[in-house]
Amino acid sequence: MEKRKIILDCDPGHDDAIAIMLAANSPAIDLLGITVVAGNQTLDKTLINALNVCQYLDLDVPVYKGCGQPMIREQLIAPSIHGESGLDGPQFGALTKQAEPQHAVNFIIDTLLASAGDVTVVTTGPMTNLAMAMRLNPDILPKIHELVLMGGTYQLGNMTPAAEFNVLADGDAAHVVFTSGRKITMAGLDVTRKVLCLPSIVERMGRIDTKAARLFVDLMTFFNKTQKEVFGWDGGPLHDPVTIAYLIDPTVLTLKECFTQIDIRSEQSYGRTNCDIFDIFKQPPNSSIALDIDIAKFWDIIEAGIRAYA
Ligand code: BDR
Ligand code: CA
Repeated sequence: MEKRKIILDCDPGHDDAIAIMLAANSPAIDLLGITVVAGNQTLDKTLINALNVCQYLDLDVPVYKGCGQPMIREQLIAPSIHGESGLDGPQFGALTKQAEPQHAVNFIIDTLLASAGDVTVVTTGPMTNLAMAMRLNPDILPKIHELVLMGGTYQLGNMTPAAEFNVLADGDAAHVVFTSGRKITMAGLDVTRKVLCLPSIVERMGRIDTKAARLFVDLMTFFNKTQKEVFGWDGGPLHDPVTIAYLIDPTVLTLKECFTQIDIRSEQSYGRTNCDIFDIFKQPPNSSIALDIDIAKFWDIIEAGIRAYA
């Protein structure tokens, strides 16, 4: 099987950490690099979290530090969900793995320019790094094979009634990405809320009894606690790994092409992904929106991903 080349742009984050775990060891994926952005926590913390996850799992993947602030907005972080470190729960040993000297935005640009147009960019945090790369060097646009992102919703948000965290945190960056003309696959809350990491799932993964399984359990035990406090759910939505599961097996998602605009004008609804599901505006589609997810298949992909670590 030819591996799909990807750059994973993330803000770890509990679910970002599982996305890294899944992407780095999948026979279907060639993870070229991890680029880190501020989001769930400040950049210094999300960077340390990405490095810790890579070191713990013995991943030989380069990690790049990206943007520490949104393009225009005041910074928004999510300690009520991910804790003070951004990855509360697991205990890691002394960190020796270091970030690469190159800035994440330049890594994205250089990698895409040097490619044969076969690199997919996956974002699981605010889209600041990708938007900055697009603005800094628009020559990358025709080189992007596909953009796959966790973010947005065509239904209700999780930070405001209108907006999902990753888009709300940098709606202007999302606007740049959604007006880029490149193929976008959006896995929003509409599907990620269907894959709740209930206690039965934590137990199922815990029975695998490997390093990766232990990390999964430690992460999800904390994540589920905050999800219960904030949203009242018994299991947190495993948002970010949906992007990687889709790349491993595209049949996990049911998609619909439609025209999507980011609301960057209003106060109450800033960051809303206005997905024209009913084709009211009669505009050419700029996105494929995930409408549904095969829940059983998703958890099987997660289990296989954990089992891939001896
Ligand atoms: C998104 O926000 C973050 O808290 C998660 O990591 C995920 O990327 C869900 O809205
Ligand atoms: Ca994230």
